[in-house]
Parts: sequence; C-alpha cells; structure tokens
Amino acid sequence: MESRACNGGSLSDVPDASTRLSVFIASRFIDEVRAEISSAFDAVFAEGEGDPLDELDRRSRAGEHFDAVFFSLDRAMGTDEIRRLPEDIRALATYSVGTDHIDLATAAERGLAVFNTPGVLADSVAENAIFLMLGAARRATENLELLRSRAWSGWKPTQIIGRQLAGRTLGILGMGDIGERIALRARAFRMEIHYCNRRPLPVDHPVGAQYRESAAALVADCDVLMLACPSTPATRGIVDEALLSAARPGLIVVNIARGDLVLDDALIAALSDGRVWAAGLDVFAGEPRIDERYFDLPNVFMLPHIGSSTIEARLGMGRILIAGLTAWLRGEPVSNRVA
Ligand code: GLV
Repeated sequence: MESRACNGGSLSDVPDASTRLSVFIASRFIDEVRAEISSAFDAVFAEGEGDPLDELDRRSRAGEHFDAVFFSLDRAMGTDEIRRLPEDIRALATYSVGTDHIDLATAAERGLAVFNTPGVLADSVAENAIFLMLGAARRATENLELLRSRAWSGWKPTQIIGRQLAGRTLGILGMGDIGERIALRARAFRMEIHYCNRRPLPVDHPVGAQYRESAAALVADCDVLMLACPSTPATRGIVDEALLSAARPGLIVVNIARGDLVLDDALIAALSDGRVWAAGLDVFAGEPRIDERYFDLPNVFMLPHIGSSTIEARLGMGRILIAGLTAWLRGEPVSNRVA
C-alpha cells in the first residue's frame, strides 16, 4: 500500500505519441470515471458479465487495436492473464494502489508498463483506518446489534464497556503514505505512535513516531496494531501465532491493507480466548470469501474492503491513471509507474 515514484520510461516502449491511446476497460468504474477516461482516450468498456479478457481477445482478433488495459482488484493479472493479452497491449493500468494482483515479473518480461494509483486514496484509507480502530475500541458490532435487535433497555453504567484511545499506543506496521496519514490523525486522539518499516523515517519527521526494528518489537509495546504495509513475500502471514504471542495483552488488531497479512487461524484463536481484545478488519484473505468464524465473534468490527470507496478517492484514482498514461505517451516523467 505504499506509494512509489519512478520515471516514466523511454518513448521507445510507448505507442505513437501523436495518436490517442486506445484503452480497454476490463473492470466496472463509476460513471464520472468512465466519462473522464472516454474523453482522454479511445475507450472500449467490457460488456456483459463474461470474462473481459475473452472479450478483449475477441475484439483483437476482429482487428480492434488496444494500447492499454484498465482493470482493478476484481481482475487478477496473473501469469496466464498477462500471457494471453493481445500483442499490441503496451500498458496495464490498475485502478488500485496495491499491485499484488498483478504478476509484475511477467508484465516486465512482456515489456508492459504498469501504472497504479498512489497518494490519491491515502486520506480516504486513513479515515477508514480510524473508523475501524474506533469501531473495534468502542465495540461497534455489539452496540449495533443491541440497537438493531431492539433489545436495548436504556442507558446503564454497565452497558457494553469499550476502550478509550487517548493515552494508548498505536503501532503502525508499514509507514508509507497511508501509514503516515493514519499516524497524524491518531496523534490528534493523543495516541503515542510507534512504527515498523523497512526504512526508518528521518528523525525530524513531523509524524513524531518511534521506530521499532521488528513486528514483534512493535506488538510488544502497542495497544493497537495497524496493518498498513503492502502484501509481499516478506509480509504475507506476518500476523501469526508467534507474533500474537509476543503482543501486549489486550491488543486491538486493525487491517486496512491486505487480508493475507493475517493467518486467520491465529487471529481467530487469539480473538476467541481474549489475547487479542478486538479487531477492525476491512480486508480478508481470499476475498470476497470471509472465514465464517469471524461472523460469530462479537469483538470483530468488519467492513467489506471500503478503504478507497469515497467519491474523492475514486475520482482521484481515475485521474492519476489518465495523467500517468498521458505523460507516458508523451515521454514525460510519470509519478505512478510501478514497472
Ligand atoms: C485497495 O485496496 C487498493 O489497493 O487500491
């Protein structure tokens, strides 16, 4: 989930800069984004419910030309998908900041430029992280159930007791753009911020967070663990039995990044026996399937992967992809090229 900036590559790998790019849109986007893509490029939107890559193949065989494919997290671009793309495709534009659904090595082998959406969704995702942290701390699932079941019998001193965040420590695993924005918000709640990252921030960084060298060191002295790192071979399954055993008792776990950072068996066991006090989860391993056991845990506040589901982020995501591809076509520097 971290953003990266790199140069836009050379003109040799791009289509003729004097023409409009022809793009195939394999995922469904909101109308505003569709309209902006259509005004920037010659765009064909996948029709019907079938596999859009079959349609792309059909169109290409019928003589239609495409330079780039737009898609999102709902369309994995694995080895097979990339290998079957029509020969004239030169670029992949993912409507997401995460790129773990793309086989970047195969894309590079095929000489494809890959674009994503860093930065523009960071505020929305950070706001959602705060929502999840508050929802978990204030036992939102149980409180909503109490109201919606019409069983609430009125204010009581003993009623569903949550936790205050002020004075507690937030441990952020992955201090990229999103992690920093979460930290700035959490400081306004008077939380102390610790973090673990591949690289420490400069000591005078305005976030004012304390560096921890490992995830185990981070969980040992935080009250809320916030997962904000990308899914990579190094981070997949990082929340396992060993990590949770190293945690401060009563930890709250919040995951706004990717479901596969967490081993569900380990988290569910710890949530069930109280070692983990609560969790706020926006993402799940194997989405849209969710491990059934989460539904039975009242101390889990869950959302269906809505981090970037705001109009501001969605518009920004479309615009940064349009800007990136346009700059690439012109041979200008590109801020959102991942490969
Ligand atoms: C959402 O999860 C994204 O990667 O943009």
